Amino acid sequence: MLKTRITEMFNIKYPFIGGTMMYITDAKFVSAIAEAGGLGILPSAFYKSKNSFRDAIKEIKDSTDKPFAVNLNLFPMMQPIDNNEYMDVIIEEGVKVVETSGHRAPDDIIARLKPEGIKLTHKCVGVRYARKVESIGVDAVTVVGFENGGATGMLDITTLCLVPAVVNAVKIPVIGGGGISTGKAILALMSLGAEGVIMGTRLLLTEECPIHKNVKNTLLEAKETDTVVLFRPYGNTHRCLVTDVTKKVQELEKENAPFEKIYPLIEGPKNQKLVKEGDLGSGFLSCGQGIGQIDRILPVKELFKQLEEEVSNTSKRIGEIIQ
Ligand SMILES: Cc1cc2nc3c(=O)[nH]c(=O)nc-3n(C[C@H](O)[C@H](O)[C@H](O)COP(=O)(O)O)c2cc1C
Repeated sequence: MLKTRITEMFNIKYPFIGGTMMYITDAKFVSAIAEAGGLGILPSAFYKSKNSFRDAIKEIKDSTDKPFAVNLNLFPMMQPIDNNEYMDVIIEEGVKVVETSGHRAPDDIIARLKPEGIKLTHKCVGVRYARKVESIGVDAVTVVGFENGGATGMLDITTLCLVPAVVNAVKIPVIGGGGISTGKAILALMSLGAEGVIMGTRLLLTEECPIHKNVKNTLLEAKETDTVVLFRPYGNTHRCLVTDVTKKVQELEKENAPFEKIYPLIEGPKNQKLVKEGDLGSGFLSCGQGIGQIDRILPVKELFKQLEEEVSNTSKRIGEIIQ
């Protein structure tokens, strides 16, 4: 059993957080992660109206009585979103955990949600951001290193160096991640002081993950060398799976093309088409370097059980080495 301040705070069986994944962690998938004993996170930004967002939350509540979280997006968006609308629904529907992620501190969100007793975590990529969000009142901080799938930030600090630095810098519990796909890696993070582990890429290769089988088959073959960081010139770095589209984006970046030239290749509906129709020539797929260590598709429940067993077996093996 893995018991930490995070399992206590969020009331979950395992200290495993299923990272929010746009177009992917829908109500069904979040419920599956919750039922398996982890914390699934619903991306509010995926839902374009209060009603569709409320329906998704109701669907989760109808399928599981276990805790789940909602993500509020603070990244710059081509079509700006009003998080107040989502917060209305979060409060009305009694959501217990909210994660924020993006390019700014969540002062306004904390001011509105903390008095409601909602537990808050903010996902960031550096010590100074972690200190800042602790000082304004989040309950836990999530940090992801440069290996991670999705937004990497501009500091390029690896998980192995970022997690202990943040653990030393704050008193609140730290959820660490970026490149974590195995029980051995989870144990490494916990030995560095993380009390929760966030995984995105590993969950792409689960039975319940609603991505097209072409994408799953491609991911099964992918190695740790098959990801690339894009959009650095535009201040919005993302690690994704290498495809013909990402190669084209790299060429445009080398030519110092304006973002307006790149945007039509990677706009939201194109990424959604990749995920749903398995068309790898459309948009891009966020993917972390941990993809190289995944060799099978499992039901989430089985995955979490195996990860916990691997943590325990590895810990015993290390115990035997240390004389
Ligand atoms: C396909 C995919 C989509 C993602 N979408 C989002 C998102 O919309 N918002 C967000 O904050 N993080 C997003 N992430 C990041 C994850 O929530 C998580 O932080 C990350 O996957 C952890 O690193 P790992 O992939 O190496 O496990 C995404 C990651 C992946 C792989």
